[in-house]
Amino acid sequence: AGQPLVLGIESSCDETGVGIVSGTTLLANEVASSVEEHVRFGGVVPEVASRAHLQALVPTIQRACRTADVDLSELDGIAVTAGPGLMGALVVGLAGAKALSAATGVPLYGVNHLAGHVAVDLLDHGPLPTPCVALLVSGGHTSLLRVGDIATDITELGATIDDAAGEAYDKVARVLGLSYPGGPVIDRAARDGDPRAIRFPRGLTAPKDLVRHRFDFSFSGLKTAVARWVETARLEGREIPLADVTASFQEAVCDVLSAKAVDACRHVGADHLLIGGGVAANSRLRSLLAERTAEAGITLRTPRPVLCTDNGAMMAALGAEVVRAGGRPSAPDLGADPGLPV
Ligand code: KG4
Ligand code: ZN
Repeated sequence: AGQPLVLGIESSCDETGVGIVSGTTLLANEVASSVEEHVRFGGVVPEVASRAHLQALVPTIQRACRTADVDLSELDGIAVTAGPGLMGALVVGLAGAKALSAATGVPLYGVNHLAGHVAVDLLDHGPLPTPCVALLVSGGHTSLLRVGDIATDITELGATIDDAAGEAYDKVARVLGLSYPGGPVIDRAARDGDPRAIRFPRGLTAPKDLVRHRFDFSFSGLKTAVARWVETARLEGREIPLADVTASFQEAVCDVLSAKAVDACRHVGADHLLIGGGVAANSRLRSLLAERTAEAGITLRTPRPVLCTDNGAMMAALGAEVVRAGGRPSAPDLGADPGLPV
């Protein structure tokens, strides 16, 4: 048999994504985002996201098939995100995938969203030397993974114990009166700031925290520290130095993320570090990681930005790996699991 031809469906948050791959070759990646509908709420509203998925799913599948010039009957598999994510959003993609599978007889594969963020790199950089470490940083998750085999062996080394990194960006942006999503706005505002202007806390990096939380993250204390700093400045009638505050906040986030990611590589014995998720687009995170991985002799792999944020191609890429590994198709009563572990 040739390369498995797989269609992937992603609907765990606010992106309706449909991708088609042939093995590790990307044929189509169509994404319909409802992010605009959430802007005025300052965050993703589950109910609104579910309805948008319902409207976008079938047209997005049709667009992907047209782009790839693929007929559904040719597929070797339909891969769909089974979790983790928003329950109401996941079930829409799952229902669509099950219906497609039932109607065409193409096997259905329920796959893990976090593993998808790892698998997508194959489409950009080919085979991934293992074991490697993956740092996933988005609005919904922040975790460090040890990857032995993409289809069968991914374990979580650590994760955030409170807010995700992107969530911290979004909340701090809100405190500063900046728009949603906060990541890109803060990234830009911080460009002219001094990252050492204010020393904000680095969560879970104290020696006593490292004992139990060596690879875990915490950003809610940082968020509170920024909010308190801003509040004090306002009460004292001082002007908020936006560039310095954002640069200092960003430095605290990126310092911890990159230090723990490099430490995880040492721990695992990995000489490749992969990053994914919306925050992987951050300019400071990229430069700091480039610096620290180079010092440590680690190769940094970053999929192009459109593949870092949620999309269907990542689920298709993972599905193709599962098919290649001889994984068994899912039962037709496959359920969504909002808290699915990796
Ligand atoms: O992966 P993603 O598109 O969606 C999920 O949350 O799954 O990530 C979105 C998050 C948002 O919190 C957004 O503020 C953040 O990624 N983000 C950034 C940047 N671009 C997007 N954070 C920091 N710097 C950026 N340049
Ligand atoms: Zn994601």
